[in-house]
Amino acid sequence: MSLLELADVHAGYGETEVLSGVTMDVEEGEVVTLVGRNGVGKTTTLRSIVGVVEPTGGEIRFRGEEITGSSSETVARDGIGFVPEERRVFPGLTVTENLKMGRFGGADTAHRRSVEDIWELDAFENLRERKDSRGTDLSGGEQQMLAIARALVAGADLLLLDEPTEGLAPIIVERVADLVRELNEEGITVLLVEQNVAVASALADRVYILDKGSIVYEGTPEELDADEDVRDRHLGISM
Ligand SMILES: Nc1ncnc2c1ncn2[C@@H]1O[C@H](COP(=O)(O)OP(=O)(O)OP(=O)(O)O)[C@@H](O)[C@H]1O
Ligand SMILES: [Mg+2]
Repeated sequence: MSLLELADVHAGYGETEVLSGVTMDVEEGEVVTLVGRNGVGKTTTLRSIVGVVEPTGGEIRFRGEEITGSSSETVARDGIGFVPEERRVFPGLTVTENLKMGRFGGADTAHRRSVEDIWELDAFENLRERKDSRGTDLSGGEQQMLAIARALVAGADLLLLDEPTEGLAPIIVERVADLVRELNEEGITVLLVEQNVAVASALADRVYILDKGSIVYEGTPEELDADEDVRDRHLGISM
């Protein structure tokens, strides 16, 4: 049994179908990356898992239990953490207050961290130094670290990260990548949407490519690296 399974998931907005049958799975302990061109439905896939978008067809299972169409609150309580593309740091709250917000409605998993635990982690050194700064005063990298830290305070066995390195300076990209690796080594399973192919390849156990609403490729980063044809056709980039 996979930790997360999507079987022929359809979803969209209003009359527009964006996902036309997404099938993929994530095994416990893996880092799986989902890549694909702009607008193919990567974010919609994550939103379908966490109950922000209601699937119109197919099934989503977490630990073998069907969660298709469950509310975001239920999914969070089940142990799925979601860090959206737009990060959603509360601008008027301090770093500490933002972290405390993570305590509401999350999951009591073994991976749940207290706010104090967050300060102990080297990866969050910058946040520790900026405890009393407001969300608005944080850099993009600090906001990303805070959004991930808040998901840890909420407690997650499976972390869904939507383009966490987008718009960040190379050195900060490295830090975010190191953090994701560290969290995974501690046992958190990760489903990562990532446009930075170097990061996606460095972190992933397996890669899925989404194109126009369905999965068109699954393989290891090494296999994808060797398959120029697939990359040309579905990503339009060279690695
Ligand atoms: N809230 C929404 N309402 C209507 N259409 C939407 C909404 N969000 C996304 N879409 C459309 O759905 C399609 C898929 O969007 P989605 O955000 O899932 O793609 P993506 O692969 O994450 O893209 P990107 O790489 O730009 O983040 C796009 O055509 C987008 O315009
Ligand atoms: Mg997106």
